Amino acid sequence: MKILSGIQPSGQLHIGNYFGAMKTMISHMEDSDLYVFIVDLHALTSVHDRQKLAIGTLEAAADFLALGLDPDKCTFWVQSDVPEVCELAWILSTLTPMGLMERCHSYKDKVAKGIDASHGLFSYPVLMAADILLYQADRVPVGKDQKQHLEVARDIAQKFNTTFGETFVIPEPAISETTAIVPGLDGQKMSKSYGNTIPIFLEGKPLKKKVMAIETDATPVEDPKDPDSCNLFSIFKLFASPERLEEVRNLYLGGGAAYGYIKLELLDLISDYFAEARKKKAEYLADPAMLRFILHKGADKAREKAAVTLDLVRERVGLKY
Ligand code: ADP
Ligand code: TRP
Repeated sequence: MKILSGIQPSGQLHIGNYFGAMKTMISHMEDSDLYVFIVDLHALTSVHDRQKLAIGTLEAAADFLALGLDPDKCTFWVQSDVPEVCELAWILSTLTPMGLMERCHSYKDKVAKGIDASHGLFSYPVLMAADILLYQADRVPVGKDQKQHLEVARDIAQKFNTTFGETFVIPEPAISETTAIVPGLDGQKMSKSYGNTIPIFLEGKPLKKKVMAIETDATPVEDPKDPDSCNLFSIFKLFASPERLEEVRNLYLGGGAAYGYIKLELLDLISDYFAEARKKKAEYLADPAMLRFILHKGADKAREKAAVTLDLVRERVGLKY
């Protein structure tokens, strides 16, 4: 089974990215043919700062490796190091219906948030379809917000197959229901572009500042509260042991849950959860040559696979004369 997913290096990765996507990706290392890549070409739709993109790419690589991704047990690379993806994106775009693209809410959401309405931002899902189809992925683990993009990739693959003959595997989305959407400090979806994140590798005072800033309601401590509609509880749930979670749930329901104390407990839980990875990340970042070596080796591996699909596609559409 080929499992593939990518992540944008457009800002510090946060616990929503970790629980919504990265953790599942890493867990597939042992049981599948895993493809993980850093989508710098996609990030270019929102980041126009050379330094920020280049450093963000290396940081995202260090994040994955520190969190346990083993490059020898998967194919791990940076999207732009495999230029074949751009050729496939163009070919796919020639059969992507405009209506399909116009229905994508991610474009409208991003423009509403102030990202420039560029053509790249609009055609983002076609490049994403190319990412997936180029490697003939069977399953794509992503957060719920990417579901529509997956449907676009499937539609494009089906259209290609009916137009030019069976060529692409139709990819299945794999969306974890338990951690489908991790809320941010303000209760909206945690997202780099909403400025409401808890970055994975934050520690000390800056981490404390974030955790204490998780928005809660003004219900007095002794009153009963609904844990399932509480933003703090949703984040707590990701880190606490099942036993502790049950205790805190009962405090919510029966009265006695003090938000301030729960936040301090959460702070320690987050700190401990990522302690080992934090150390490893620092080691990787101290050796950027090593990081580049790992990524280039991964790109060579990915290019070999990409070349096989692209060769078939070129033949199918008549680009081989
Ligand atoms: P962001 O919204 O912070 O820019 P991305 O769009 O780069 O994050 O998402 C990277 C991956 O992480 C995607 O698979 C996405 O679905 C997942 N993801 C992002 N935010 C969350 C969240 N709050 N909860 C669950 N998954 C998320
Ligand atoms: N669009 C995805 C996101 O913002 C990132 C992405 C690009 C991706 N190409 C992909 C995810 C291919 C899975 C498969 O999160």
